[in-house]
Amino acid sequence: MSDQKGPKFGKATSELYEYHKGQKAVRLTVTTASGTILCAEIAHFGAHVMSFSETDPSGKKTDLLWTTSKAVFDGSRAIRGGIPVIFPQFNQWGPLGSHGFARTSMWALVGVETDLEGLGIKATFRLTESKATSETWGAEKKFIFDYTVGLKADKDPGRMVIDSKISNTGSSEFGFTMALHSYFPVQDINSTIVSGFDSSFKGLKFIDSLQGLKDRAAMVVTETKDAIHFKEEVDRIYLNVPKKLQVVDKKANIAIMQETEFNDAIVWNPWVAKSKRMAKKDYNEDDYKKMVCVEVAEVGATGFAVVLKAGEICNRRVSIYKTELDSSRASL
Ligand code: BG6
Repeated sequence: MSDQKGPKFGKATSELYEYHKGQKAVRLTVTTASGTILCAEIAHFGAHVMSFSETDPSGKKTDLLWTTSKAVFDGSRAIRGGIPVIFPQFNQWGPLGSHGFARTSMWALVGVETDLEGLGIKATFRLTESKATSETWGAEKKFIFDYTVGLKADKDPGRMVIDSKISNTGSSEFGFTMALHSYFPVQDINSTIVSGFDSSFKGLKFIDSLQGLKDRAAMVVTETKDAIHFKEEVDRIYLNVPKKLQVVDKKANIAIMQETEFNDAIVWNPWVAKSKRMAKKDYNEDDYKKMVCVEVAEVGATGFAVVLKAGEICNRRVSIYKTELDSSRASL
């Protein structure tokens, strides 16, 4: 594909590869109008976006997702980093194992398509009911979860676009909570801010998960600050969040943006004590200084955030991209 802006504009590639013994993934790339190459790597295990990066024409690479050096890639547990898909249960709010089964299930690759309209490329993964989901979630729950990860160069900056489509293909209704548990890299958590791009967090309702598993509705409190700064462990479910969220990394002078159709977002950083506990498994003690999770989600304050009757579908899109910091955001 070519364009007057440059011969490589919109050029897209895909490649199937093995990232660990027996574990397959797809690597997608696309070239934007300015000659920047976007690259995303998505594992079949968990339909897990393991990485998303930008390499500018001078060869400078910026990772827009973070993964710990202690991540386990053999399929025995969820990969600590990137974007784990959390479904059909967020965290321990329900009877299933923490964060549900999607992140540790093997998804099928439906296909890779070039997307001429979006000047890009996309890969679709699918998860449906199985013996394992019947045993844990109930045999009556029949579903198709199509998860499409695309790279688009039609707008500047280029972006990763994720479409999540959950269909109830059975004859009885079911409810769920979910999140796309994105881990974003930051140079220093002390100079990192999470906020809405064009609206404040002040006045948003949130559930402070550090209070434990109680009645979510009774735990709802109101945010008093415009933006979140990190000075201690933060683990909150924000409800009805702004549609443009940003992780402002003042040291790197960039903001990682999420344009979201999801209603909620979890903001999480484990800080010192929880990092020590997690370091016994798949996390380094000081990893908390280099990452923050801002997880677009459907969790809500009670029961299931989404209930699908037979035949109903839930569609949600999120786009992730990098911007340089302008003076207004540098002063946040
Ligand atoms: C976040 C939760 O979404 O995920 C935290 O809000 C939790 O409470 C974190 O600790 C990590 O969960 P896990 O299961 O991947 O260790």
